Amino acid sequence: MTKKVEIDWKNLGFDYMKTDLRYLSYWKDGNWDEGVLTEDNVLHLGESSPCLHYGQQCFEGLKAYRTKKGDLQLFRVDQNAKRMQDSCRRLLMPEIPVETFIKACTDVVKANEAYLPPYGTGGSLYIRPMMIGVGNSIAVKPAKEYLFTVFCMPVGAYFKGGMTPVNFMVSDYDRAACYGTGQQKVGGNYAASLIAHEIAAEKGFADCIYLDPTTHTKIEEVGAANFFGITKDNRFVTPKSSSILPSITKYSLLYLAENVLGLEVSEEDVYIDALDGFSEAGACGTAAVITPIGGIEYKNKLHVFYSETEVGPITRKLYDTLTAIQIGDIEGPDGWITKL
Ligand SMILES: Cc1ncc(COP(=O)(O)O)c(C=O)c1O
Repeated sequence: MTKKVEIDWKNLGFDYMKTDLRYLSYWKDGNWDEGVLTEDNVLHLGESSPCLHYGQQCFEGLKAYRTKKGDLQLFRVDQNAKRMQDSCRRLLMPEIPVETFIKACTDVVKANEAYLPPYGTGGSLYIRPMMIGVGNSIAVKPAKEYLFTVFCMPVGAYFKGGMTPVNFMVSDYDRAACYGTGQQKVGGNYAASLIAHEIAAEKGFADCIYLDPTTHTKIEEVGAANFFGITKDNRFVTPKSSSILPSITKYSLLYLAENVLGLEVSEEDVYIDALDGFSEAGACGTAAVITPIGGIEYKNKLHVFYSETEVGPITRKLYDTLTAIQIGDIEGPDGWITKL
């Protein structure tokens, strides 16, 4: 690595930063073109592009990490590739082959290596693949042309403080409908969630908890992260629902809780009025990593789990194990790490 950039690595938040190169590929007449790395971070789109009007777009989020030896590695990139294909199928967009997705991410990380935070700073390089429907058409129909891009930026903690407990409030709004697109990573879900987040932030909460859209009795998501709880008898429990995003971090934790920590694990209904059964709770996701949930406010009452200031022992162990794999301190299960 020759280039050096002046960045305060220890105080990175979760913000956009322009890095040197991004990948761009165009789909037309049934084919993806070769794809290029480009310096230009501005997209030139037709005014009638379906992504702008009808939200025909999807995206992903994953991270690259620097190991102690200084090597670069990606965490479970194949899972993001497959989830993006699922989003594409749901929105009638052309799928990006898994190999193309992985190569695009790899090329972008290598091209922006100078922006990858040093080992030990807690930072990582956040990678944002995105696909949008473009071209000239105004009818509510799938676009005739598509753009796939991958860009990246260095990031630190998503929720202020990182691995310190934060409080959430239950929202009256839904982010997704029950047979809608909650399982896919598509922009419309996030547009629908902005108001709920804003209300939670105004009231001093880190974010909001969404309940199931049909009965409003079960926990679905924690902002842009999945929920998990540790029951008083030490089971790792996470909600099962067809309208939440299948979090890659959550499935990684399910595996680690069972196979490394030896806990019983379960995906099941998590009722908002049964929080007493949990001794610890957390939000998990690529951006959130594991963020301990101090308490959840529901019907004007704050339910505190382990503590509003201290991290519970199982949450801590899960965090230490997951992050050690991500930064290469310990070996992960087969196929989790792609070394660049
Ligand atoms: C709504 C939502 N839920 C959960 C997650 C966590 O998913 P992952 O662990 O794959 O990042 C994310 C972030 O991608 C998200 O946006």
